Amino acid sequence: MEAERLNVGVIGVGNIGSAHASAILGGKVEGMRLAAICDKDEAHLLRIAARYEGVPRFLSAQELIASGLCDTVIVSTPHYAHPEIAALAFRAGLNVLTEKPAGVTCLAVREMMAGAKRSGKAFGVMFNQRTNRLFREAKRIVSSGALGELRRCVWIITNWYRKQCYYDSGSWRASWRGEGGGVLINQAPHNLDLLQWICGMPSHVYAQCEVGKYHAIEVEDDATILMRYDNGMTATFITSTGEYPGTNRLEITGTRGKLVIENGKLTHTVTEMDEREFRYTAESVQNPISVSETVDEAYNGHLEILRNFTRHILYGDAPVASGYEAIGELTISNAAYLSSWLGREIALPMDEALFDAELRRRAEADTSPEKTDTRADVRFSYKKRWNTNWEKNENS
Ligand SMILES: NC(=O)c1ccc[n+]([C@@H]2O[C@H](COP(=O)([O-])OP(=O)(O)OC[C@H]3O[C@@H](n4cnc5c(N)ncnc54)[C@H](O)[C@@H]3O)[C@@H](O)[C@H]2O)c1
Repeated sequence: MEAERLNVGVIGVGNIGSAHASAILGGKVEGMRLAAICDKDEAHLLRIAARYEGVPRFLSAQELIASGLCDTVIVSTPHYAHPEIAALAFRAGLNVLTEKPAGVTCLAVREMMAGAKRSGKAFGVMFNQRTNRLFREAKRIVSSGALGELRRCVWIITNWYRKQCYYDSGSWRASWRGEGGGVLINQAPHNLDLLQWICGMPSHVYAQCEVGKYHAIEVEDDATILMRYDNGMTATFITSTGEYPGTNRLEITGTRGKLVIENGKLTHTVTEMDEREFRYTAESVQNPISVSETVDEAYNGHLEILRNFTRHILYGDAPVASGYEAIGELTISNAAYLSSWLGREIALPMDEALFDAELRRRAEADTSPEKTDTRADVRFSYKKRWNTNWEKNENS
């Protein structure tokens, strides 16, 4: 059956949830109608009421789901709550688009995937950077085999700069108890997802996560991950919210050339022969036979994911970011935390129950005083604060 329009409930209308709700209300997503909003913070719901005049409001996900007003929900609460809210929605037969990360632990996200499967409803995740032209082109080049066998991937993504006021802006932020981690669980999921989307999953993960290196927080704001792959490829991933100005440079080298994405441009260099051939046979190294460039274009990844999710449900379009794929990047970040905590390399598949226990131990040991939300001061300036510093667009 083809419905013509989805009745969408946005659960968690904070920074990003309010951006999604406003986009839908403003008619920017054909096929989506804003049917309800929900936030557990009553004062906040009242504060934004005028913006969503006439749209039913709820204080809990349960109430919104039980209202029967929605056939689809967007879950944009803090991460820990994504799997449990998704489970409720799937049980009620609703489609779910969750914000990233899909959850904090692989175990919780596996349950979420099982719930989605049982329901047969659509399951998507807001990996908006998958719609970026340069990353799509990188995936196309690697998947086509044009780089030969992959050798090395290095991603320096240190332009996730955040000031202390960002960490202080929400009571859930930057604690094991409220958020379940720092830069690896909040900002880097986009890049870890792209890395595994383009290059595949590693077999081993080793990491060093530095807690509160730059900020007064109890979770990491700086991390370096070393990954090994079955074919001998290695990947190095460096991220931070404390370096300014930061860098965003992705380099992938294979036996037939390499590609580099930096400053809004992808450069693809191709060699005439596979390195494995000319290593022993040619008299001199082969000059590149071609160098091609692709430049970035302005895009709004959030809108593109909302539109694709709609078309996926209504017309069967292939999903750009299936929720079932969200487990990939989370596996890498869970393994990175575990590696850093235990001081050793983690082989995948990892012991997910051990990660759960170690995280829980840290959350329970957290004796820091409850923070209060100061978010009213920074509300509705989403774009400016979440800018990733790409030269040509502001999308994160
Ligand atoms: N895709 C992206 O580019 C992007 C950008 C920003 C945030 N996010 C993700 O979106 C989520 C929210 O981030 P944010 O910055 O908007 O946070 P936020 O604190 O600004 O907003 C979260 C909102 O959820 C509400 N809430 C909390 N628990 C709830 C519950 N159980 N039921 C209903 N409402 C609840 C809070 O009151 C708050 O208004 C996070 O998972 C974050 O990683 C994604």
